[in-house]
Amino acid sequence: MSNKKIIITGGAGFIGSHVVRRFVNQYPNYDIINLDALTYAGNLANLKDVEDKPNYSFVKADIRDAVLIDEIFATHKPDAVIHLAAESHVDRSIEDPLAFVQTNVIGTVNLLNAARKHWKGEYDKHRFYHVSTDEVYGALGKEGFFTEKTAYDPHSPYSASKASSDHFVRAYHDTYGIDTVVSNCSNNYGANHFPEKLIPLSINNIQNNKPIPIYGKGENVRDWLWVEDHARAIDVIFHNAKTGETFNIGGHNEWTNIDLIKLLCKIMDKKLDREAGTSEKLITYVQDRAGHDLRYAIDPTKLQNELGWKPSLQFEEGLEKTVDWYLSNQEWLNNVTSGAYQKYYENQYQNR
Ligand code: NAD
Ligand code: TYD
Repeated sequence: MSNKKIIITGGAGFIGSHVVRRFVNQYPNYDIINLDALTYAGNLANLKDVEDKPNYSFVKADIRDAVLIDEIFATHKPDAVIHLAAESHVDRSIEDPLAFVQTNVIGTVNLLNAARKHWKGEYDKHRFYHVSTDEVYGALGKEGFFTEKTAYDPHSPYSASKASSDHFVRAYHDTYGIDTVVSNCSNNYGANHFPEKLIPLSINNIQNNKPIPIYGKGENVRDWLWVEDHARAIDVIFHNAKTGETFNIGGHNEWTNIDLIKLLCKIMDKKLDREAGTSEKLITYVQDRAGHDLRYAIDPTKLQNELGWKPSLQFEEGLEKTVDWYLSNQEWLNNVTSGAYQKYYENQYQNR
């Protein structure tokens, strides 16, 4: 493919950094611009290995700032946007829903407005790829899967804000003819995951002999995908999806939270040379999350059949790789768990 200038929003975050790395390394003829506000979740240390590459650059910008986003489109003239910037943590959305409306909904509309203005007359030459979540579909019972046709039924302020942003993206396709693509992915895990989410939080706590907080009975089910498999799916979809299309991304890898944490404890005992069963003793059941969705599970048939994508890693292998990454990146973990994180943790977990 010929030269392209792509703005990747949220590139300093967990998934965004893997997407940026993949595009910078796979496509030396593309200019990759990482646009990120560097909130608590954004960390340029995630991209140390690509920051000196000639096809990578960073622009610090907040997508809530419509004027600035317009200026950036005028200056950089991007051919495409891959949009990942978001407030992404359900528990924080329960504390402060408006922050999620501002970034996830208004921020997305600001980007769409810039695309609408600056790409006018040549919408077919540009692409707006919106990265979303399976949480927009709501919660499943014990049976069934989310397909691309499942009706939206979000329950948390986070998923409601992502659902709204998805609707806006599709509305800009239907109304103005902008070339948009949406993908809805299941829970990701892997390196650089901020330790407010279940897996990295538990790795950090196990290492420090702190309680592992399990919400409710630990029976909620999530469908886990290795983050690099998600980044590869985004690459495949970005390059091959027809305009206006939606793809669900997932790898049929469902775990109850408690079974997942028990597996993690086993791996950690081995890695930390602890007697078998030591880490499991840290499991502590705490007050459930309000509106806690019971089960998420993706049907990835469309992506597999139409674009030939499938996950590359078994979960046990991926989880072990993830633990290895955290244990050998102690400085990264120390940096992100100092300061504001301590306050967040106390606020979330002290009286739970
Ligand atoms: P993250 O919280 O790790 O990173 C979010 C990034 O966005 C950070 O770098 C942050 O600085 C940036 N950001 C936040 N607000 C911003 C703003 N106003 N302006 C500019 N930048 C801003 O999130 P993540 O887990 O990497 O998720 C990335 C995207 O993927 C999100 O859109 C999320 O909804 C979606 N998603 C996440 C998962 C998951 O399991 N984590 C699963 C499916 C979809
Ligand atoms: P999380 O990683 O926050 O992702 P999401 O809510 O987007 O699925 O949570 C994954 C699951 O783990 C979810 O069912 C909530 C649960 N959970 C806990 O039991 N304890 C915790 O401390 C956290 C953060 C999550």
